[in-house]
Amino acid sequence: MLSKKINALLNEQIASEAAASAYYLAMASWAQAHGYNGLSQFLYRHSDEERMHMLKLFHFVNDRGGFSEVRAQKTFPSNYKSIHQIVEQILKHEVKVTGEINKIVDACLKERDYTTNNFLQWYLAEQIEEETLAQSLLDKLNLIGNDKGGMYQFDRDLEELSKAKIE
Ligand code: FEO
Repeated sequence: MLSKKINALLNEQIASEAAASAYYLAMASWAQAHGYNGLSQFLYRHSDEERMHMLKLFHFVNDRGGFSEVRAQKTFPSNYKSIHQIVEQILKHEVKVTGEINKIVDACLKERDYTTNNFLQWYLAEQIEEETLAQSLLDKLNLIGNDKGGMYQFDRDLEELSKAKIE
């Protein structure tokens, strides 16, 4: 059984993953409207992954005798300055999510809820991957600078990356 406190924290995280899904979807829409096909495919896919993260938590809570909540979403920005700004925001967002998961893990350990702690280890591993990927994309963009050919190739590379399997 989940304690009330852990249930509440997991519901916060369900809302956070759902918000991440909506956020990346808003970014995908901007990218598609601005002709960045690779980036938009990458973001559509990233949005799907976040929904999967949300559902995984959702089922865990209900399967453990808790109650999963569905919360209303806010509206996310439809305007972005550049690809660079989008990737920066992804990295910032993922670092924030890592902090949220750490907070829940901390609470689990204090309560000796080892089952939830064990379940959350998957999320911690996933966060390492997501932060590393966002950081590497940002590093590439910094190298490319204002080079149009480099930006074209970057968008093509993201298209390829989007064909990889969803986790
Ligand atoms: Fe599900 Fe990217 O955090």
